Amino acid sequence: STKELETIIWNVKKTMGARLFLPGHHYQKDEVIQFADVRGDSLKLAQLSATQHEAEAIVFCGVHFMAETADILTREDQHVYLPDMRAGCSMADMANLTQTEKAWKKLKTKFNDTILPLTYVNSTAAIKAFVGKHGGATVTSSNAADMIEWALSQKERIMFLPDQHLGRNTAYDLGIPLEQMAVWDPIREELLHEVPVEEVKVILWKGHCSVHENFTVSNVKQVRKDYPDMNIIVHPECSREVVALSDYAGSTNYIISQIENASPGSSWAIGTEMNLVKRIIQEHPDQHIISLNPRMCPCLTMNRIDLPHLAWSLESLAEGKPQNLIKVDSDIAADAKKALERMLARA
Ligand code: 13P
Ligand code: SF4
Repeated sequence: STKELETIIWNVKKTMGARLFLPGHHYQKDEVIQFADVRGDSLKLAQLSATQHEAEAIVFCGVHFMAETADILTREDQHVYLPDMRAGCSMADMANLTQTEKAWKKLKTKFNDTILPLTYVNSTAAIKAFVGKHGGATVTSSNAADMIEWALSQKERIMFLPDQHLGRNTAYDLGIPLEQMAVWDPIREELLHEVPVEEVKVILWKGHCSVHENFTVSNVKQVRKDYPDMNIIVHPECSREVVALSDYAGSTNYIISQIENASPGSSWAIGTEMNLVKRIIQEHPDQHIISLNPRMCPCLTMNRIDLPHLAWSLESLAEGKPQNLIKVDSDIAADAKKALERMLARA
């Protein structure tokens, strides 16, 4: 029963104390997030994983790339576990190493070695390693603007993996015109550009988030019509058109803090994952808050982590038979760490 599973989890937490660290991403279910030692966006969870010196085991309540990042940033003798190996990320899966190496070879030649690669942390360790090896860095939705500025101070242009929307929205905010952004299609292996190629500054990988693509221009128009006074706030994984029509855009931490700091009685339509939207609604009964898409949009892979999986994971750990170890190959980890550290040095 729910009670029994919860008791198992509380007991293991109590017995292990600081030897166990349990980070939880904001998109996790309530039944899981109640046990998290910290809640956070990707940046905060990456930073905190790096500073848990006492933890022997990190049971990551989030998705696979986040657990890999935690493994890369922690010591050899610290172990990271993911309660369900099926908790992946469809966006991270949109860029694999073979595709990336092919793209890089073509683009490097085309642009005469004037490109620096950047990758959103929502990518596999292999992609982070590729980027680290070529002098680039990771970015999160909280620091993408700083990182793109940094990258453009190093080289004339960037290749941004794997989320075209975060790349486009951030570059646009930095004043780069949309025409100077091209899209690399990894399936057709071609660069789609509008201006002469030498004028291209930002090469966007053709990837996206299948959750955030559900927030559409027609959702925004409907909210504007039904609630003319409502603030619209979205995650920058939403399309350029949706972000342009919204009032605010930012990371999950940014969305939470905007609403926490809003005056009582204000009203908000939020364009991000459903578990977080529901939690914000519950925590702010003084405000009128809805999902920008009335159907609500869950991230099915985040939702793979549930009470039974968390209890099983912690129980197996307590019995000395831990399951679902996330261990990034040491060569890949070393290069990926370079990319992460270039980001953390500026965060
Ligand atoms: P944040 O970095 O804003 O938490 O978003 C990450 C995300 O989309 C997780 O998939
Ligand atoms: Fe990946 Fe989108 Fe889910 Fe985030 S919300 S884990 S980007 S699929």
